[in-house]
Amino acid sequence: MKRTHSCGGLRLAQAGQEVHLAGWVSGRRDHGGVIFIDLRDREGVTQVVFNPALAPEVSALAHGLRSEFVVQVTGKVSPRPEGTKNATLATGEIEVLASGLQVLNPSETPPFPLDEEGVNEDLRLRYRYLDLRRPAMAEALRARHRAALAIRHYMDEKGFYEIETPVLFKSTPEGAREYLVPSRLNPGKFYALPQSPQQFKQLLMVGGAEKYFQIARCFRDEDLRADRQPEFTQIDIEMSFIGREDIYALIEGLVKRVWKEVKGVEIAVPFPRVTYREAMDTYGTDKPDRRYGLKLADLTEAFRNSSFKVFQSAVAAGGVVKAFNAKGLAVITTGQIEDLTNLAKSHGAKGLAWIKVEKGEWKSPIVKFFSDAEKKALTETLGVEEGDLILFGGDQWVAACEVLGLVRIRCADYLEKLGKLKKDPAQLDFHWVIDFPLLRKDPEHPNMVASHHPFTAPVQEDLPLLESQPEKVRGQHYDLVLNGVELGGGSIRIHQGKVQDKIFREILKLPGDIVQSRFGYMVEALQFGAPPHGGIALGFDRLMALLLGHESIRDVIAFPKNARGQDVMSGAPAEATARQLKEIHIKSETIPGV
Ligand code: AMO
Ligand code: AMP
Repeated sequence: MKRTHSCGGLRLAQAGQEVHLAGWVSGRRDHGGVIFIDLRDREGVTQVVFNPALAPEVSALAHGLRSEFVVQVTGKVSPRPEGTKNATLATGEIEVLASGLQVLNPSETPPFPLDEEGVNEDLRLRYRYLDLRRPAMAEALRARHRAALAIRHYMDEKGFYEIETPVLFKSTPEGAREYLVPSRLNPGKFYALPQSPQQFKQLLMVGGAEKYFQIARCFRDEDLRADRQPEFTQIDIEMSFIGREDIYALIEGLVKRVWKEVKGVEIAVPFPRVTYREAMDTYGTDKPDRRYGLKLADLTEAFRNSSFKVFQSAVAAGGVVKAFNAKGLAVITTGQIEDLTNLAKSHGAKGLAWIKVEKGEWKSPIVKFFSDAEKKALTETLGVEEGDLILFGGDQWVAACEVLGLVRIRCADYLEKLGKLKKDPAQLDFHWVIDFPLLRKDPEHPNMVASHHPFTAPVQEDLPLLESQPEKVRGQHYDLVLNGVELGGGSIRIHQGKVQDKIFREILKLPGDIVQSRFGYMVEALQFGAPPHGGIALGFDRLMALLLGHESIRDVIAFPKNARGQDVMSGAPAEATARQLKEIHIKSETIPGV
């Protein structure tokens, strides 16, 4: 099939040439018998003119063209007449005067206009193959390909092998619920889809691969959000004979390469490092958006003996009082304060105390309990001024920080809508969050759980605390954060089988049979001369969304699932037949005959 140029390639330099183009009709206009179409392919759009005075038969045929017909056009490149040039289009200085037209395939009327923003997302996903023709989606696919290529080149230059690992596997302890796949050949047994290739990449290190990477599919049965999909892609990495600094340098170089090759943007490295403690204390989260302030302050001492019982009792129980100044947000509505309070309560807070400063007065249900000294401490610590809104959390340290962290983000959104705060998407605040606690308390667990995953090595100098004060032990874990999004995480691993076994049995207190059945082969492998090793995984979908400025990772994935985990185009997930279920030894109470 003849095609001499793409629809994005013609310029004034080709004026006078005869060309062949192929693509989709993206718009058709009839100007007194002269038909104009915008012909679109992956690379761009070219204006094609059918003039009955020049080519009567072809122009008659062009009358029948409709949106999304796929056509082949022959014609001569011609400079557009003065006044009709289009500076917003790469091909905007020329048009093609058609002398030939072939309809390769007509199209039904598209269910939504492809050139419109704000089309309902389920409709876009139902007809994803049409949605993908939109220039923004074509750009996302192109950029994703170029990023993947840049990653492969970079990793190859650094001596890494790309190695595939199984998708039919068993449980992986990354913390999410897993997808199970019944085994027909092994009645009553199930594979689990991997939440990440964590164990395999460590086993590759035991196997002497030394430097591994993979652009790997991962599966997690989680509640979905804009930055979470049930299947997603990681840039998964593992190396032997290294320490944390090696990973930081490798990843800084990788991210720099990708931003440069895909966006042409130079990123400053090395990235700053923030401790977990500092991130939580200041921003109330381990993935802070530091492009704006609204920093949390500690007021524990000021309220230790307060007559406001909520704060006094929080401190007496070993907790803290934290607060921040949502500068200029005294204009907040009562409804919005209620929304903030509900947000705090939905994350376990008992309430959300606040003060508005309006007309020189502190308006608040709690201010009557405050002493002058407490007011003075607040004013000085938070720089309280006319027009401010102060929000408080009194609770155990983690809970108080986390709740105010969420409230801070919501307040920033309110302030942004009011034009009082700007989160500049061009400002790229990459940073490492380090010194995480190795273990954390989990309300659903009697014992402590690994804060990253159970293969993470403790910081060497904290080892003596492992039994006596496990909560004080830091892990050799690091997260890469960009503008409030966790882009990736990893750690230096435990490489001695005995230490790994002790962590499972004595620290995480997993029953011996569980350790044996779930992780026995890992503990065993580490006893055969496993090298010291560590790694990281970056969320490729999140990286692409941030790189291209999309809110949702669905906009950088060719065929994503919707918020209910469905593929609305094919109808997956779908029912299985009684026969299929029988074959895989599944009994069903809801499907007759099974
Ligand atoms: P972790 O669980 O932190 O680490 O995952 C690494 C990165 O993967 C991305 N990510 C997701 N992206 C889209 N949808 C999801 N449901 C989703 N879940 C995670 C995030 C996250 O930072 N095996 C370890 C890595 C290691 O220790 O080397 C792991 O998987 O960007
Ligand atoms: P109460 O004494 O429970 O009526 O609470 C008085 C005010 O303090 C209300 O505005 C509550 O929302 C708020 N409040 C209650 N508990 C907390 C808490 N743990 N942290 C911050 N504010 C709280």
